[in-house]
Amino acid sequence: AVERTLSIIKPDAVAKNVIGEIYSTFEKAGLKVVAARMMHLTTEQAGEFYAVHKERPFYNDLVSFMTSGPVMVQALEGENAVLAHREVMGATNPAEAAEGTIRKRFASSIDENACHGSDATDTAAQEIAFFFGDDGVCPRTR
Ligand code: CMP
Repeated sequence: AVERTLSIIKPDAVAKNVIGEIYSTFEKAGLKVVAARMMHLTTEQAGEFYAVHKERPFYNDLVSFMTSGPVMVQALEGENAVLAHREVMGATNPAEAAEGTIRKRFASSIDENACHGSDATDTAAQEIAFFFGDDGVCPRTR
């Protein structure tokens, strides 16, 4: 089925100036950008976005990293978009990421791991609404 997923190019990858290479990777995987926004997250925004991880030991470092510089946020649309996006990102820990994946190519550690992607369609809908609201997405299915 055609799905949408939320994607964030994190501050480390933005700083490496590889937004275009990452977008190209999405396009080659059949993922279409249907919304995009560059922003420098506040501590409050990053904390709310990652609230599900609030009790995890890495939460404070995660929020601090995600507010360390601008991020590029996009909604992607395509066949099985959630899984397709996770496949091109590679494993959360770049040391375990497959050859050719975004994290293998651009990430340096599990904390500075280049990108974020929704893990399921329901969280994708929540995450897309968090950044783009109800009317911030331009469907490309027709
Ligand atoms: P992301 O997909 O953005 O979701 C939460 C982030 O926390 C994750 O990518 C990692 O960058 C970071 N993180 C740090 N340590 C861990 C860990 N042990 N397990 C999962 N995520 C971690």
